[in-house]
Amino acid sequence: MRKIIIAGNWKMYKTQEETLEFVQAFKSKIEDTDEARKVILCAPFTALGVLSKGLHGSRIELGAQNVHWADEGAYTGEIAAPMLAEIGVSYVIIGHSERRQYFGETDETVNLRLKAAQRHGLTPILCVGESKAQRDAGETENIIINQLKKDLVDVDQNNLVIAYEPIWAIGTGDTCEALEANRVIGLIRAQLTNPNVTIQYGGSVKPDNIDEIMAQPEIDGALVGGASLDPTSFARIVNYQ
Ligand code: G3P
Repeated sequence: MRKIIIAGNWKMYKTQEETLEFVQAFKSKIEDTDEARKVILCAPFTALGVLSKGLHGSRIELGAQNVHWADEGAYTGEIAAPMLAEIGVSYVIIGHSERRQYFGETDETVNLRLKAAQRHGLTPILCVGESKAQRDAGETENIIINQLKKDLVDVDQNNLVIAYEPIWAIGTGDTCEALEANRVIGLIRAQLTNPNVTIQYGGSVKPDNIDEIMAQPEIDGALVGGASLDPTSFARIVNYQ
C-alpha cells in the first residue's frame, strides 16, 4: 500500500518565533483530517528544536532539508544524520534542485546522503526533476531516468519517498499540468524495484490546484514550498478533496 504524504518545505524561511506562531495556528486546522494522510514539516535546522517541542503529541512529523553523508567529522557547517535523529527528525529532503543548482550537489553526493539518512532510520525524500531547457529539448525522460539510476545505487527502496519536482515549476506559479505530472511519476515508478514507494509532486502546489493533483492515480502526495509557509493555505492543501 502506498502512503499519502503531504510535506511542507520551508526552505530558508521562519525564525523560531515564526515557527511557534505557525504551529499554534496550524495544529488546530488539521485536527479533523484523515489520519492516513501523513503531514510533515521540513524546517530550517535552527527551527527543528522548537518545532519538535511544538509538535509533541500531534501527528505532524518533523523533517530536515539536507543531511551530510558522514556520521560525524571535520565538515564545517554540515549536519549529520545521528544529530537529526536525536532531536526527533523522521524525514529529510535530499537532492533538492536548489541544492544541486547552488551548492554543487551531484548524483554521487545525493546517493551518499540517501544512504547516510537510511543508516540512521531517517526516511529520505529524494527530489528529481528536469529544467526548462531539458524539457524543451525533449530530455525529460532521460534526465529523470539517469538521476534515479545514479541516486538510488544501493538505496533501500523500502524506506524512501521520491518527489518529482520539475525545476521550471518551482516557485514560478507555473504548475506542471496534473496529467503530465501523473505521466512522469508513472515513469519514475516504472524504474523502481518497489512499487509501493510514495511519489510526490512538487512545484507551485497551491490550495487551488491540490485537488486536481491528488486526483491523479500515480501521485501520492505533494512537496510544497511557498504555500506551506502560511498555516491556512497549508491546512487547505492537507485537507484536499
Ligand atoms: O520542495 C518544494 C518546492 O521546491 C516547490 O516550491 O514554492 O513552488 O511550492 P514551491
